[in-house]
Amino acid sequence: MCGIIGVTGEADAIPLLLEGLHRLEYRGYDSAGVAMVVEDQVWRARAATARTSVATLAELTAGAPRGHAAAIGHTRWATHGSPTEENAHPHVDCTGRLALIHNGIIENHAELRAEIEANGHTVTSGTDTEVMAHLIEEQLSGGATLPDAVRAVLRRLRGSFSIAVISADEPDTIVAACRITPLVLGLEDGMTLLASDIPALIGHTRRVYTLADDQLAVLTPGALSVMTLEGEPVEPEQRTITWDLEAAQKEGFEDFMSKEMHQQPTAVGDTLLDRRAVGGELILDEMRLTPDDLRGIDKVFIVACGSSYHAALVAKYAIEHWVKVPVEVDIASEFRYRDPVLNERTLCVGVSQSGETLDTAEAVREAARLGAKVLVVSNVVDSSMARAADGVLYTRAGPEIGVASTKCHLAQIVALEVLGLYLAQILRTQPAARVNEILNAMERLPSLVTETLARADDVDDVASKLTDARDFFFLGRHVGFPVALEGALKLKELAYLRAEGYPAGELKHGPIALIEPGAVVVGIATRNPLWEKMLSNVAEVRSRGATVVLVADDGDEESAAVADHVLRVPPTSPLLAPVVGVVPLQQLAYRLARLHGHDPDRPRNLAKTVTVE
Ligand code: AGP
Repeated sequence: MCGIIGVTGEADAIPLLLEGLHRLEYRGYDSAGVAMVVEDQVWRARAATARTSVATLAELTAGAPRGHAAAIGHTRWATHGSPTEENAHPHVDCTGRLALIHNGIIENHAELRAEIEANGHTVTSGTDTEVMAHLIEEQLSGGATLPDAVRAVLRRLRGSFSIAVISADEPDTIVAACRITPLVLGLEDGMTLLASDIPALIGHTRRVYTLADDQLAVLTPGALSVMTLEGEPVEPEQRTITWDLEAAQKEGFEDFMSKEMHQQPTAVGDTLLDRRAVGGELILDEMRLTPDDLRGIDKVFIVACGSSYHAALVAKYAIEHWVKVPVEVDIASEFRYRDPVLNERTLCVGVSQSGETLDTAEAVREAARLGAKVLVVSNVVDSSMARAADGVLYTRAGPEIGVASTKCHLAQIVALEVLGLYLAQILRTQPAARVNEILNAMERLPSLVTETLARADDVDDVASKLTDARDFFFLGRHVGFPVALEGALKLKELAYLRAEGYPAGELKHGPIALIEPGAVVVGIATRNPLWEKMLSNVAEVRSRGATVVLVADDGDEESAAVADHVLRVPPTSPLLAPVVGVVPLQQLAYRLARLHGHDPDRPRNLAKTVTVE
């Protein structure tokens, strides 16, 4: 999730860009850059020292030229290509007279890159963004104006983008456009601005315009015009912003956790983007581990902590079912102290949102020492663990600021299941048609998560009835068991309530002694191979006085008949169901935290990244 800022008509543009980029730092980034049209040229400065990029940029631009001309700035959260200076935005074309910044993922960048390289262009970065600069260059060399050149190129793109383009040939003009990834525009006192989101603008204007998908804007000092990609004029809708800065960073949500729960459909969708070749087969080009490296694998270990561990448990069911290779899942802090048996035919997967969790980093380091191939699934490009691994598979959830993991947890489940399908494709344990069928079902998950999020009122209603409850059991079977563990963890870390996640079949071996009137049992009753047994377990606890809340598929009246409260989710295939089924449990924990007066973004005793043993 990158940050974008642009201005034309401002006497001293660079300080304004830097201040805007600073306000976008909360989005996370690993490199930054600015560009401006100066004396018939494009002047550019970029920095790629993660976490200090904007500060480093301020040093680089200390002697920057002043001018009313068009200027753009960017903070990059790497998805394609490492966070290096050559990958930092803005990117330029071969002439150096055009500069472009971009937020999003261009799905067909590989074929477009091949086209421009065949036409003689020299592409200097590993990004999907630079390809667009060279395509626009070709249009300009054919005599097109900057707006027409950009429109022609954007009509060829698949994927998501918000972009801003400047050219030495039109020094006061910025051309901007977006699809899926948001872009806002602002007007004030002879100055026209653009940004990826409102925090970067509210220091200069509160009069903003939001571009709709496939709309293009032409910004000149104190003026803007909007059109469709076909060139039809559009009257943009103007809004007046009343938020303060922190509220703007939350984009109107009460807290970052709410915002990030609502980013889950995009996080899942982006993690799935661009994973298939034209023929439909899975390609994990960022992985670095080759198919030959993986063909010799006869066992998989997955090591992780917390919510990442729960995602790993879901993956165990999927990988063993699809790949027919044994999968062991270990709590990272226990793994290296138990003399695990690994060798060069073992694949050890470290799952870590931050890529910095010491327990998991040390576990994969031990796995490597024992000869295993190490693959890291992380949300932070070039994090410590990613750099040390033999291969990486990135979730693309964007920075997760809330301490409780939500969108990254869903993205991890999806990424690990994509890994499972990739192994099945390489080891030929599933026909290509079956892999495709499952991937197609996975691509429907974002809409199912959106549908589930929209049912928050049902969850809030149940939460209000449980405000006085102090003991919670979360029960699940099959892939519902990791979902139960995750639901219990969310309730503990957000509402500070006692909650245990248990395999439902295990209750009769002791824990059922704890069930009495007043105990709340939250059951994961979405359809899976053990659904009928799950309902029997639910009947056992209900007959002993427990209050039963079930997460159940739409239309499942049998589950509703044995529950006091039902949280409905749209059905999907069992191995994908955790991506949807965990959402009402996140919402339940969130709402109970609020009802108990706690701040979900800052739970007591917890840190977002645990870098101690
Ligand atoms: C999840 O809500 C918690 N914040 C915590 O359990 C977290 O999942 C765990 O610390 C692992 O973090 P990582 O994914 O960054 O390694």
